[in-house]
Amino acid sequence: MAVKSSQGLTIGDLADRTGLAVSAIRFYETHGIVHPVRNAGGHRRYGRHDLRRLSFVMAAQRLGFPLADIAAHLAPLPAHKAPTKADWSRIAKGFRRDIAARIAALEELGEKLDGCIGCGCLSLKACQLYNPDDAKAAEGTGPRNLTRTVS
Ligand code: FES
Repeated sequence: MAVKSSQGLTIGDLADRTGLAVSAIRFYETHGIVHPVRNAGGHRRYGRHDLRRLSFVMAAQRLGFPLADIAAHLAPLPAHKAPTKADWSRIAKGFRRDIAARIAALEELGEKLDGCIGCGCLSLKACQLYNPDDAKAAEGTGPRNLTRTVS
C-alpha cells in the first residue's frame, strides 16, 4: 500500500522518538512488532501507533518478558492501522495475567531466598528439612522449591 511520502514516520523518526537504534527497529519488524508500508519511492513509512507498539515492547523487555511472548501478545493487533482502545484493552487483559504470574514468582523468590530453594547445594541447615539428600532432584532440574519459577 503506497502512501504519499509526506505521510507516515520514517525509521529515523521512530528511532529519534523511542531512543531505539534503527537496527533494533528493523529487528522488531522481522518479529512482526511493527509493519511499515512503502511509499511511492519504496521507502518504509510507519504510523504514529508504531511508537506505542515499540514503547510497549521496550517496557515489557525491561521487565524481563521475552520478545517472543511480547510479539505473541501484540499479534492480534491490526497491522496497518492504529489499534483502538478496545484492541489495547484485549492485549492488556492477556498481559496482566503474565504480569500477575511474574509478580507471584518474584514474591515467592523474595520469601524463600534465605531458605532452602531445593537446588541441590545442601548448603543450608534448612536443606536437611526441605531437601534431605537432595531428594528434590527426583522431581527434575533447577530450584524445585521455587514452584512458580520451575516448570
Ligand atoms: S538451598 Fe540448595 S538444596 Fe537447599
